[in-house]
Amino acid sequence: MTQQSNKTRGIIIGGSGLVGGSLVHYFNKCCPDNIEILSPNSKKMSLANDGDIKRYVAHWKPDFIVNSAITAIDSDPQLAYTINYIGAVNLAKVALKFNIPYIFISSAAVLPSGKDISEDQRLRLEPSLSNYAKSKLMSELTLQRMHEQDGLDFTAIRLAIVYGKHDHKIQGFHRLLYSIADQAMPLFLTAKGVRHSYTNAKKVPLFIHHALKNRAEFSGQTYNFADSQPIELVHLIQTIKNYLNIKKPRNIFLPLRIAKLGAGCLKLLLKTLLQIGIEAKMPAELMFLNQFYESQTLDTTKLKHSSFVDPWPEKSIYSRLPEIIEYYISRWETRNLISGFNDEFCVTRKDIQQFVDTPEELLRQIHGGEYSPFSEFAELEEKQDQPKNL
Ligand SMILES: NC(=O)c1ccc[n+]([C@@H]2O[C@H](COP(=O)([O-])OP(=O)(O)OC[C@H]3O[C@@H](n4cnc5c(N)ncnc54)[C@H](OP(=O)(O)O)[C@@H]3O)[C@@H](O)[C@H]2O)c1
Repeated sequence: MTQQSNKTRGIIIGGSGLVGGSLVHYFNKCCPDNIEILSPNSKKMSLANDGDIKRYVAHWKPDFIVNSAITAIDSDPQLAYTINYIGAVNLAKVALKFNIPYIFISSAAVLPSGKDISEDQRLRLEPSLSNYAKSKLMSELTLQRMHEQDGLDFTAIRLAIVYGKHDHKIQGFHRLLYSIADQAMPLFLTAKGVRHSYTNAKKVPLFIHHALKNRAEFSGQTYNFADSQPIELVHLIQTIKNYLNIKKPRNIFLPLRIAKLGAGCLKLLLKTLLQIGIEAKMPAELMFLNQFYESQTLDTTKLKHSSFVDPWPEKSIYSRLPEIIEYYISRWETRNLISGFNDEFCVTRKDIQQFVDTPEELLRQIHGGEYSPFSEFAELEEKQDQPKNL
């Protein structure tokens, strides 16, 4: 416990991201009287800067740390190594120093392809791994060593493909959804029968909260954290297609070698464009092209045998698909990234429609008191103290 307050103080790094966003949201809602959450962004405390980390933790003295930060998935070796690995281990050193729990969010990228892959079937650390997988694997291995040698109190939680509603970038599962909605996937870039595991972002905070309350059981442990039922990619794409009522991708399956050839040509084209001053980027997910054609399903037996009780064991990505689709389609529509779904998915508020079509009339109504889109702040206490010198 911190001395200044009776609340347990946790630092969540990566709180603006898909996973970290769910964590911050959960802890702020579930238990504001017991737990205080701090979530510095990377400008305030960058994992690339040990001075930042020192200053921040020395000031706030946390009772636990959750690391859900990563640099962009296709980052160069320097960024991936510095932020994903050195940053993760520096936080572990803080946790050791303060003798507090450290929750490290890891990834199924450290595991091989195949069926029912268990916690101990890690990939071998090899130069050919992606920078992302390499940095995550090295982090897991160093944390394990720090646990065994120095008594680090850590839990590594390996996530599969995460689905949820806090993704402000378009990546991972949401990139797939975007490509289908944008009709940018004319053919199936996968094969029938290929299955993957998925992780519900809403369940991750519940598990972390439970693991924090039960350190004796969860300390020094690594868990595969995914829904119990793997999902066939073809079936998932078909379901999204049906939901959006669109025709693409057509029922043609592009073999992996042709997909790779296509990706190679695209790379060349982008390089040529760069030479004439047009900057364009390959979608980062193309680095996972092989994975679209290979099953990877996680064995979740260890999780099921733990004391954590899954509150929604029957839920899968299909149960959340309608709300996720509606959320992202209207979000992307309002950002003009896609079009054509507005009527079905996004009911435009009257004043927003006026803002578009008749802004003068809208302003007249607001100034005339006929309409107020503003909040009331009457319940706030007035500020008594004098203005401070700047
Ligand atoms: N999304 C998935 O499908 C998936 C799958 C498996 C595992 N995971 C794991 O889940 C964790 C979270 O992933 P995510 O998808 O939520 O990532 P994300 O949405 O890309 O968010 C990344 C977060 O990292 C922060 N960050 C980046 N550089 C930083 C730096 N130098 N210092 C401090 N913070 C920095 C960002 O903060 P700023 O915005 O302030 O820069 C952002 O909040 C990662 O460990 C990832 O390996 C994710």
